[in-house]
Order: sequence, then structure tokens, then C-alpha cells
Amino acid sequence: MRDAILRNRVEPWLTPSRRSDVPPFMVMDVMAAAARIEAAGGRVIHMEVGQPAAPAPRTAIAAAHTALDTARIDYTSALGIPSLRERIARHYRDLYGCAVNPERIVVTTGSSGGFILAFLALFEPGDRVAVTVPGYPPYRHILTALGCEPVLIETSDDTRHALTGEALLAAHRKAPLKGALVGSPANPTGTMMSREALTGLIAAAEGAGIRFISDEIYHGLDYAFPAVTAAELSPHALVINSFSKYFCMTGWRVGWMVVPEALVRPIERLQQNLAISVPTLSQFAAEAAFDGRDEMEAIKRGYAENRRILIEGLPRAGLTKFLPADGAFYLYADVSDFTADSFAFAKKMLEEAHVAATPGVDFDPIHGRNFIRFSYARSADDMREAVARIARWLG
Ligand SMILES: Cc1ncc(COP(=O)(O)O)c(C=O)c1O
Repeated sequence: MRDAILRNRVEPWLTPSRRSDVPPFMVMDVMAAAARIEAAGGRVIHMEVGQPAAPAPRTAIAAAHTALDTARIDYTSALGIPSLRERIARHYRDLYGCAVNPERIVVTTGSSGGFILAFLALFEPGDRVAVTVPGYPPYRHILTALGCEPVLIETSDDTRHALTGEALLAAHRKAPLKGALVGSPANPTGTMMSREALTGLIAAAEGAGIRFISDEIYHGLDYAFPAVTAAELSPHALVINSFSKYFCMTGWRVGWMVVPEALVRPIERLQQNLAISVPTLSQFAAEAAFDGRDEMEAIKRGYAENRRILIEGLPRAGLTKFLPADGAFYLYADVSDFTADSFAFAKKMLEEAHVAATPGVDFDPIHGRNFIRFSYARSADDMREAVARIARWLG
């Protein structure tokens, strides 16, 4: 009674803002259902969550222990610890043969923190920003929360699910775009853009004055061909990356951006005000993570084996249609031969086969009802068991 009276009294002025009304992530519902099955004694094969099963590199964990014992965990410079920024710049030289000035590196709170800084620095409220569908939902939801308008551009098999310059310019002609954001390797599709595709898209965007953002969080996890960084193709592109995936450091919440020179100071001012700095312990660990690349390459070989097991096994199990699994640790399967509702399909597969996957509706409001996403970031035994269970269930 008292609650009801209080609620009536305060609700009018506690009405949440319209911009906070972003959709939830449905994978959370799948995870909750999986947890219920496990609490009742069932063994679930988890292919719903997009995070590595392996821990951070040993070098990173050791550096964190040392820092706790010997260093002060104070605020750092808003742009990040200078030695970490230099180490990230060196990574571009070592991995891509591309010179990047350390002054252009900004350390962020995961790539998620990078999106907020990038969007604030690049766009005004009301600006239209192209994103692909299927695509990572927070692209759309963060843009919306910041008052920008995500413009959904559909991709198809013809272009290996890459956004093309033509599609971008066609959308721009309908109503002007201020920005475009792509990810390669992509989530949820696992597809990648070739060097030619990325070069053509950046040229088209910049030719039309459209600001270009490249989400490179799954770089390092490429199997079909080497991933290309937009940092190599244009000094005006804004690159977002993270220690979460290749370096298995999701919970450390540390990532980075390579930003055009003119944006360094505005982004520094934003970071100073929004976060002060990125967690210091995580920055120490991140710098040492680069010394753990051998360990991470072994984990990547594990993903490559998982990918092989699924590409060979799923068709035998009955799932014959899926997108080219070029990179990341995702396989995006078309289940339209079985259902017109991939959420119900994923729920049933979880309840009856105890295999958890994510329904495509999270990633694609248009065709997502036809797809489910499998994450293959766990063990090869889990992958073999998942294929066997799906085969029994569909058979
Ligand atoms: C495509 C993509 N970008 C960004 C993120 C955010 O990652 P983080 O904030 O951990 O760097 C994710 C996480 O799953 C992702 O899949």
C-alpha cells in the first residue's frame, strides 16, 4: 500500500528518459534459461555467449599481481598510460606493418567505452549513422541513447555480408548520412571484409564526407584471410579495438582507439569528464598482454579447430546453411527450413538438446527470425558434443 502511494507520488518525475528506452539483450534470457537447466542437474553446452572460455594471458595476470604489490593504483592520464599507448602503436607496426603515432592512441574502457567517446566526438544529436544488419546490437542502441539515428543497411550473401560503397551512397542519397560503422570480423555473422572491400568502402564514405568507424575487436581471430586495419587505409578513419576477445580479457574492461589527429584533444576532454581514466590495474595488465601472444595464438588454433568441427559437423547434423565463418568465433546459421521463429527454435534446442545458442532477432530486426548464432569459443569436446546433440535432436 505504502509502496503504491510512494510510486504514484514519485513516478511522474521519475519517468525514464525516452533515450534510455533501449531494447534488452535477448541472449540474457537464453543464459537465464540455461542456468535453470543447470540448477536442475542438466549439462548445457554454452554456445550463446560471445566470450572466450580461456583466461587472460599469464603475462597480463603476473603484471597485475606485480602492480598490486609494487605500484600505486592511481588515476592515469585520460588518454591512457603512455607506455601502453606506445606499446599499442608498436602492435600496429608489428602486426600490420603500419606506422601509427602513439599520440593518436586512446585507451578506453573496453571497446564499449570507445563507442561512446567516438560517437560523442564525431556526431551531433540527430545525425544519421549507417550500421549493418545483421550487426552488434549496441551499435544501434548506443547511437539511439546519444540522440543519433542508426540507419540500418541490409547486407547479403552477394557481398559476403559486407557493407558496400554503393549501398552506403544509395542510403546517403535518400537522406544524408554523417557516419558509417562496420565491424570485420563481424558479430554475429563471423564474416570478414577483404582488403578491396574495405578500401572501396572507406573511399566511398570519405568521398561523400561520411565519417568512418571501424570496429576491429575481433582482429587476430581471422581464419579465411588476414584482417586489414582501417588505420592503414586512412588517417581519417576512427578505429576501435579491445583486449576482450583475442587477449581473452573481457572482464578487465580495457580497449583502445586509433583516432584522427584532430580528435585526440576533444576525446581527451570527454574522457577526463566522463571517466577520468581507464582502470589502472587493467592498463598495466593490458601492456603485458602483448608479451603473451604465443599463448593467445595457441588459443586461436583451438578456435580454428572448433570452427572446422562445426563447418564439417553441422551439415551432417542437419544445419546445412550458414554464412562464411571467416573470423571471430561465430557461426551464423540459417534455420528457416525448420522455423519462422528462431527465438522459439533456440529455446526448444536448449530445453530438449541442452545446447544454448543466441536467436538472430537480437542482431537483426528484419531477418533475425531465420537465424541463430553459435559461439565457438569453448573446447573442441564441447563442439563435438554439441554437433552430436543437435544431430540427435533434429534427426
Ligand atoms: C562486435 C563487438 N564490438 C564490441 C564489443 C564490446 O566489447 P568490449 O566492450 O568488451 O570491448 C563486442 C562484445 O561482444 C562485440 O561483439
